Amino acid sequence: MKMTFVKNFPGMGECDAYVLCPGCAKKHIPEAAALLDKVDEKRFSGKAGQTIALNLVHGDKLVTVVIIGFGDKIDENSFAKAYAKGVKEAKKAKPATIGVITGGPLAGKAVESIILADNVYETHKTEKADKVDYIIYGVEEDEVKEGIVLGNAVCLTRALVNEPSNVMTPAQLATEALLAGADSGFKVNVYDLPEIEKLGMKAFLEVARGSDREPKLIAMSYMGDPDSEEILGLVGKGICYDSGGYSLKPSSGMETMHTDMGGAGAVIGAMSAIAKMKLKVNVTAVVAACENILSAHAYHPGDVIGSMAGITIEVNNTDAEGRITLADAVTYAALKQNATRIIDAATLTGAAVAAFGSSFTPVVSDSDELWAALEKASVPAGEKVWRMPMDDELFEGLKSDIADVKNSGGRGGTITGGMFIQKFAQGRPWAHLDIAGTSYTKGNDFCQFGATGVAVRLLYHVAKDSVK
Ligand code: BES
Ligand code: MN
Ligand code: ZN
Repeated sequence: MKMTFVKNFPGMGECDAYVLCPGCAKKHIPEAAALLDKVDEKRFSGKAGQTIALNLVHGDKLVTVVIIGFGDKIDENSFAKAYAKGVKEAKKAKPATIGVITGGPLAGKAVESIILADNVYETHKTEKADKVDYIIYGVEEDEVKEGIVLGNAVCLTRALVNEPSNVMTPAQLATEALLAGADSGFKVNVYDLPEIEKLGMKAFLEVARGSDREPKLIAMSYMGDPDSEEILGLVGKGICYDSGGYSLKPSSGMETMHTDMGGAGAVIGAMSAIAKMKLKVNVTAVVAACENILSAHAYHPGDVIGSMAGITIEVNNTDAEGRITLADAVTYAALKQNATRIIDAATLTGAAVAAFGSSFTPVVSDSDELWAALEKASVPAGEKVWRMPMDDELFEGLKSDIADVKNSGGRGGTITGGMFIQKFAQGRPWAHLDIAGTSYTKGNDFCQFGATGVAVRLLYHVAKDSVK
């Protein structure tokens, strides 16, 4: 995809198809507005997300003009949805170039959603879909920089998360983080097995034991405000494949488990956007990357293991592995990266999928302030969040007779999963995003299929809103 920006619309001619709202049609393509006037209200009334494709003859060329509806309330959401659907409709005419007319304070959101809607995972397809070039009329590139950066950051995350586990190994994920850091301007340190041992990350290492692929600890940092002591710590679950271990998943449950590093992908994407936009904030991120697979070396159900924080864990289910790796990752964020607030993103529980499907990301947090920041950020991010109650009664299920805690038990799985991680956050204000349901889609307005890149924009906007 190529995208160019032209401030003033010169009239039809350059493109094979156009996407614009009814108001812009009146102003810029009156032939289309005249045709639209004759269209039945039932077919197109300008409702949010509605589209209609009109065919015009311009010179000796057939041009498709797609009119999009914003509805009565023009906001980030309706704007993003309208352009995403408009572009999708225009593509049906197989254009080589699509012209999009936009403008105003939400134009960045239009650009962001076009980048997302156009993106498709086809790395391993021998025959690729035809590429479309876009000309965005009505804005200069600088005005929509944030939209471009965010769109590309989400696509980066999708690319990382979509790759199968034979490609996106822990070592490859570390390489990708290094590349993203070099490209965007944040620091990345990668630690290998002996160094992880030296750090005392016993819980992380137990999960990693089953695999011949070496675990990697990926530590990232971007210090955009050296005068401030505040550091936002991001932590991403980085299970490059989750078979369940000895608590083996059924094969149907394993099919998409290469995406169990969706949280890791999200924090890498968020770091990339934060650094590219040069936000005046301090942000660190950490990923404990490994595989949860079976072998003679793998940990067993019933094992008691240690952790970096010194808390002992009874492993009653090796499939509740994410929280075990996150325990050490969160400890690392607090003690080694000195994060003053911590947000983790993790494809943690099937229970989150059962409760919210793919629409809302459930949040578990011990901090009203951090929750408020997430709720506020969710609007410009276009990502829906829902706070779960935290209750000591639920933690009862995680009490162990033989160790300090056990890694699963009781009902309320999404909440208890979060509460387990909280025990390792060293008392820092903490929030947990369970993105098990929202990180993957069979298809929606903004994502054709596969990894959605959820949490990238949410985390970016939390960081941006904290700029003093
Ligand atoms: N990675 C899975 C959670 C998951 C399930 C993500 C479906 C995406 C789609 C996680 O490691 C897991 O296996 N969780 C268990 C926890 C249980 C054993 C307490 C689950 O949800 O069943
Ligand atoms: Mn699991
Ligand atoms: Zn998992």
